This record gives sequence, structure tokens and C-alpha cells, in this order.
Amino acid sequence: MTTTSAPTTAITHIAQLVTNDPSLGEGPLGLIQDAAVVIDGDRIAWVGPSSKAPATDNAVDAAGRAGLPGFVDSHSHLVFAGDRTEEFNARMSGRPYSAGGIRTTVAATRAAADEALHANVARYLAEGLRQGTTTQEVKSGYGLTVEDEARAVRIAAAHTDEVTFLGAHIVSPDYADDPAGYVELVTGPMLDACAPHARWVDVFCERGAFDGDQARAVLTAGMAKGLLPRVHANQLGPGPGVQLAVELGAASADHCTHLSYADIDALAQSDTVATLLPGAEFSTRATWPDARPLLDAGATVALSTDCNPGSSFTSSMPFCIALAVRDMGMTPDEAVWSATAGGARALRRDDVGRITPGARADLLLLDAPSHVHLAYRPGVPLVTDVWHNGVRR
Ligand code: NIG
Ligand code: FE
Repeated sequence: MTTTSAPTTAITHIAQLVTNDPSLGEGPLGLIQDAAVVIDGDRIAWVGPSSKAPATDNAVDAAGRAGLPGFVDSHSHLVFAGDRTEEFNARMSGRPYSAGGIRTTVAATRAAADEALHANVARYLAEGLRQGTTTQEVKSGYGLTVEDEARAVRIAAAHTDEVTFLGAHIVSPDYADDPAGYVELVTGPMLDACAPHARWVDVFCERGAFDGDQARAVLTAGMAKGLLPRVHANQLGPGPGVQLAVELGAASADHCTHLSYADIDALAQSDTVATLLPGAEFSTRATWPDARPLLDAGATVALSTDCNPGSSFTSSMPFCIALAVRDMGMTPDEAVWSATAGGARALRRDDVGRITPGARADLLLLDAPSHVHLAYRPGVPLVTDVWHNGVRR
């Protein structure tokens, strides 16, 4: 296989390849043994058994490593400055997590120069990429003024296409006595300034942040400006977030730690993905979300890092997979699907999260014979090679 443009590359002898396309291989993961993948430019051109791989300009011998689609991390808060080591220390001595800690990061972020924020985003994206993340959603939400939120979405947009406006993260400290005034700011001038740089609108619907009516106002205002909704829902306790997400056709309801049977049912009957963020429960020593009833009811589940300096300071999708398998009732196959194809569904993308002809050439190799080792060998840096947009990183 040769082209006049970019040279083609075949990656051969992949011990076991997760394609996430059941028409290409075995089971829901579409597994192919001793597989090969051909990359042409930034796209996957061919997938199949090594013995049938077409001729290419270049060849890479995977030498018995496992192959997977690059991880799709559909939830992170990377535009921030400072850290919250003290808060984490206090939590690990027994203090509970509350939404109020966000204010510490808001103060540090407002005080930071643009260059420092860019450098931080680039640093955590690179950290994620080394661990196999090739699609990364990034939220604003640590500015909470028109200028600071607009700056945050602009900075995020310089690094990723998946930008989320989260001006409704908490009520700004400047509006402590006037939450309604803050919702007016978020749905008015702040949205106007941020919408051109974002694809998504999000709201933290939770006691201590925004109630159901306020969350609805934020999401519908964002939708009227062309943004697509997603919701921080039912993280710290039961609440209206999941039902609101489903009602508005949100791409995902994120956290889903405290669900009623009606919430599970609503998710199962909808296209709204339940995005579970085990790093948050790990880092706040909270009760794990239970993936089992969601999966058994037929809901689509995604796994993401929630990378942020407060509740979940990890950029590692392999770590989240291991936690989901150990503590959230997922099988290794389900967790790997949720961290790849599930994340793609949560971002309404069909070009990532799978290894099929025409998909973006985002894939990784593991120093292990199968994807199961991501959970079987927790904490071990198994990702050896990553291709992103067809480029080996
Ligand atoms: O997803 N839930 C709201 N936002 C973040 C927490 C951010 C913070 O504590 O700084 C989350 O967990
Ligand atoms: Fe979050």
C-alpha cells in the first residue's frame, strides 16, 4: 500500500488488538489476535490479522504487545494554577470534601499569568499522552468572572477541540450574597464571551453549588447559544442533576455516584452517557459509584479522570481503569471499553475510541499481552508507544 502523500506504516504482531468494532473481531471489544494496523496519514487505513497485512512504506513490529485505541478522557479541569496539597492532607486526616475548596484554586488561577496557565495545560496533556490519552476534554471553571472564564476557554481551545464552559462551577465568591445575580452573569455576558471558544456547557448541579432550577437556566442558555450540554450530577449526594441531564439530552451526566433506581432507569433509556470518575472517590475517600446496576440496566458508561487539583489530581486513565475494576463492579473488558469507546460516546465522537478504517490514527501499545493487564497490573507504567493523529509520540 503506497500513496503519493504521507508514507504508510504497518504495526504488526500486536498480540491482541482491541478495535471496539465487533464486526472486526471477537466480542464487544472486537478483539483480533496477532493483529496488524495500517496508518495512512492521520487515519487508520486497514485493520486485520498480521498474516494478511498489506505492503506499506514503513513497518513497526509490536513484538507481542497488546494494542488499544488511545484513551478518550472526556472530563478534566486542566486550566488552573496552584495546588491543594494541604486540603488533600486534611482530607486524609478525616476532613470531608466539599465544593468550597474550589475557591482556593479560583484565587490562584485568577492571579496566574496566561503563560503559566498554558504551560500547566500543556504539562498535564503531555502527562496524559504518555499514559495513552489521545483525546482530552478540558473545562473552564476556576475563573468565575467574565474575563477569567473567557481567558480559560481561550487557553483550553489552544490545546484541544473539546472545550467546556463551566462558569457555573460554584457561585463566584464575588457574588456570595447574590447567587441569582451570578446565574444572570453566567447566562448573559459570561456565556457571550465564552461560547465562541467552547463546544460544551456544563454546570455543577449539587448542594453547595447550583440547584436544579439554576442548572437548567445555565444549560438552556448555553444550548440557545449553540453549546451542547453535559452535567456534573449526583456527585456528593442525591439530586436532580441526572434527570435534568437526561431531560435536556445532555451528552453525559458525570460522576453519578449517588443514583436512585429512577436515575439509573432514566440513563438506561436515554443517549446520555453515565461518566464515572473514580479518581474523585479515591482522592476524597468517598463511596465508589457502582457501575454494575448501570451496565446491567443497559446504560452507556464512560470512565474519565476528572483531573483537577482538588478532588482528583490524576491524569492516568490506566489508574481509573484499575479502580473501576477493583472497586466499581466493572470487568476489565467493560472498563477498557468505557475508557475508549465510552469516552468517545460521551463526547459524541465516532472518529476516536476505536481502531477501524477511517478512524483517527490514535492507538497505544502495552508492555503486556492483553488489555486485561491494565487492571491486573495496577500502577505499572505499561503504555510503551502512543500514536496520536498518526504521529508516533
Ligand atoms: O469534578 N465537582 C466539581 N468539580 C470538580 C472538583 C473541582 C475542585 O475541587 O477543584 C470535580 O470533582
Ligand atoms: Fe469535574
